[in-house]
Amino acid sequence: MTDPADEAPQQPTAFDLVGGEARVRELVDRFYDLMDLEADFAGIRAMHPQTLDGSRDKLFWFLCGWLGGPDHYIERFGHPRLRARHLPYAIASSERDQWLRCMAWAMEDVGLPEPLRERLMHSFLDTADWMRNRPG
Ligand code: HEM
Repeated sequence: MTDPADEAPQQPTAFDLVGGEARVRELVDRFYDLMDLEADFAGIRAMHPQTLDGSRDKLFWFLCGWLGGPDHYIERFGHPRLRARHLPYAIASSERDQWLRCMAWAMEDVGLPEPLRERLMHSFLDTADWMRNRPG
């Protein structure tokens, strides 16, 4: 007998809507390319290591799970404790806004559809705002 739960229509996750791992990787690569290239993001670029390879991998692994896909980050590092992991970096509104503008730009460049970009921006905004650890 078939379990009725197997037949219930599954809502696609944000991970599915973005287009799976290859597209999440594309987004992360564009995000860090822009951070590296654009003067607007020099402030947050300076907080990162000289080579961004490790940052790219970590954000990619994290976003896969955060978007509802495979939990690559947790498998490697355990609970993300994102706020704690950002405490060494001075994050005020200006750094939060640079991060968000860089991500909005990357989402546009990789061609995510507008309604999806808007939905993801709301979630990014909540998370980035919660990461602020300095006044201003
Ligand atoms: C609010 C502004 C933010 C700033 C200035 C910032 C900056 C940084 C910096 C400098 C690192 C260290 C990079 C490295 O060690 O390679 C980092 C790591 C990381 N960031 Fe952010 N970040 C911000 C927001 C976010 C947001 C919104 C997310 C997720 C949606 C995020 C996810 C991560 C992850 C997963 C790591 C790797 C943590 C680890 O395992 O060490 N960050 N961030």
